[in-house]
Amino acid sequence: MAQSLTQLYAENRSLIFGHRGAKADAPMNTLPAFELALKQDADGIELDVHLSQDGYPVIIHDFTVDLTTDGNGRAADMPLAELKELDAGSWFGEAFRGVRIPTLDEVFAAVGDKLAINVEIKSNSRRTTGCEQVVADRIRHFGLQSSVIVSSFDPLALRRFRRIMPDVPIGFLYDRDTPRWLHPLMFGLKHEARHPHYTMIDTEFMAWAKTRGYRVNTWTVNEVEQARKLRELGVDILISDHPGVIRKALYG
Ligand code: G3P
Ligand code: MG
Repeated sequence: MAQSLTQLYAENRSLIFGHRGAKADAPMNTLPAFELALKQDADGIELDVHLSQDGYPVIIHDFTVDLTTDGNGRAADMPLAELKELDAGSWFGEAFRGVRIPTLDEVFAAVGDKLAINVEIKSNSRRTTGCEQVVADRIRHFGLQSSVIVSSFDPLALRRFRRIMPDVPIGFLYDRDTPRWLHPLMFGLKHEARHPHYTMIDTEFMAWAKTRGYRVNTWTVNEVEQARKLRELGVDILISDHPGVIRKALYG
């Protein structure tokens, strides 16, 4: 089994997660990128999830397939079979030609027993697509409650997920561009972690988070010096496109 988040946090160091896998070295959000993060000794991975038209959780960052596949259109408008026809690797490099968009099940099956996983639920509407329920079902199916953390920029998605699966930790994602009015939507919603952009973290912020009992998990930390500073500040998880480089620099 993958170590539980509780066990990992107990190591009392900044954990290293691969952002969309080892994003700098392989096509983001694909199995090769996640497997490479594992090879690079990451503690975990971060990935982005959407639902296909027929309700399967698929791992892709954008709402459309345009940027990272040879297709066009919204992922939510395509059934899984159609998404699976797309080449999600060639845009990154010839060596990855034919790599497919993975489902959440495929990622859980490939690395769920070896890595902690930060599942980011992508959401751009007030109404649910049903993604929270499906993600909860798949986590339960694979028995990964103790090694998964669910995050989102959308407090409503977090609220729904918490209601469905209260035993899995959740984290609120935000940066300086996050509309002010979204923050109060987290009031009254118990959450275990804050996932601010790394430029928002300083001593004062860490003290504030600590008094509230929040873990602090941040992104996207690609510079070694920045990673060192954040480690000194006591950040819990550093999400990086270069998990191998950051791991080596921090822990040899
Ligand atoms: O979860 C951290 C980070 O992935 C959030 O932003 O746009 O890379 O999904 P984004
Ligand atoms: Mg993400």
